[in-house]
Amino acid sequence: MLHTLHSLQDVGQHYQWLQQMRETQPVWLDESSGCWHVFRYTDVHRVITDYSLFSAERNLRARKSSVSGRKRGRSLLVMDPPDHRQYRGLVSSAFTPKALARLSGRIAAITQELLNEIRPKGRVDLVSDFANPLPTTVIAEMLGVPTSDRPLFKTWADALLSRQVKDSEFFKSDERQEDQALDKTFDEMSDYFEQLLEERRRHPQVDMMSDLLAAEVDGEHLSLEDTISFCIVLLIAGHVTTTSLLGQAVRCFNEHPEALAQLRAQPELMPNAIEEVLRYASPAWRLGRMTKTEVTLGDVTIPAGAFIFAWLASANRDAEQFPDPDRFDITRTPNKHVAFGHGIHFCIGAPLSRMEASIALPMLLEQLPGLRISSEEPLELFQGTGLFGFKHLPVVFIPSE
Ligand code: HEM
Repeated sequence: MLHTLHSLQDVGQHYQWLQQMRETQPVWLDESSGCWHVFRYTDVHRVITDYSLFSAERNLRARKSSVSGRKRGRSLLVMDPPDHRQYRGLVSSAFTPKALARLSGRIAAITQELLNEIRPKGRVDLVSDFANPLPTTVIAEMLGVPTSDRPLFKTWADALLSRQVKDSEFFKSDERQEDQALDKTFDEMSDYFEQLLEERRRHPQVDMMSDLLAAEVDGEHLSLEDTISFCIVLLIAGHVTTTSLLGQAVRCFNEHPEALAQLRAQPELMPNAIEEVLRYASPAWRLGRMTKTEVTLGDVTIPAGAFIFAWLASANRDAEQFPDPDRFDITRTPNKHVAFGHGIHFCIGAPLSRMEASIALPMLLEQLPGLRISSEEPLELFQGTGLFGFKHLPVVFIPSE
């Protein structure tokens, strides 16, 4: 079963466990937590896509108010239609291809600024010096929050995501003991955004906070609580996952020098290589859903009202879908991975993180020659309830001015 991961060896063992489960118990009830787990691509795909049977409206750490009494807004991630359709319509205007195209120059400029700092050093922590500040600055600029508050965002992200939540507690926050530390973080973030949104209401700017306040579907605006809640989701989801993608890409290239050599010879393979990193080392490991009625998956019947974890990381290594699934192959086509989910909840930020990686990784490889993970210092893994990546990734390279 999933254990705490301390090293890349542990990660390898975890993938072995997923493979064993795919082969022997593809739909499994964990008696200790009462949660179900699905591991095969076809089952995972069905669970995350068929919202008529599998609801996202589970009670995922979403209390209606905090200990202080502050009302919490709704989150897109835990909504079913019709609410989801309306809310997503309101927020997706901020993620149009045109809005993203405007960002590409900024992404390259931020990447360059970070690399200018790193290049002479020859040895850095890739997460704190590059993979974290890049997406954090991008999402902060998109939203319109001061980038100088970056240390604050990191503190909040650490507080929200590095907590070890038992599977049995994952879906049932209302029944959990009051979680004061989590509430405090939530209240701080809410106060922060409330103040900024209030400013935007008075003086709109060209940024996503102003767009969200102005957005309208069927004559409806987002409530203040919902707008705050969405800003919080974006701030956290907008950087933690992409930090993981950038770190995992460097790890994959480090472990597969032949792929890196091929990429250097054929840089046009980079978009394909990024998809392969997403498949091979998925930043989001698993998603939660709840059955609306009794459902049969394979030859197993799951009762109504059951909690299910759909393992994206396992689906992405299923041999039925991906030939030779444990091979890191940057030329793999087709590559219908589910790293960004599928269906109505498909990641709204997928085009943004793909764009960030496809701009940043070529610049990183070009400007840090000889880049490799340092064997002298320990790397540190980050493992949230459903997310996985690096806390620290020490790397070395040939320094230059
Ligand atoms: C949804 C993964 C980057 C914002 C999702 C889902 C996954 C995911 C698996 C589906 C959740 C579900 O079905 O329950 C990732 C990965 C990323 C990434 C692997 C980077 C490599 C981003 C970025 C943003 C973002 C950069 C924002 C700027 C969101 C939002 C949703 C979402 C708002 C909810 C969509 C909905 O429920 O309709 N993401 N994400 N993500 N993601 Fe991402």
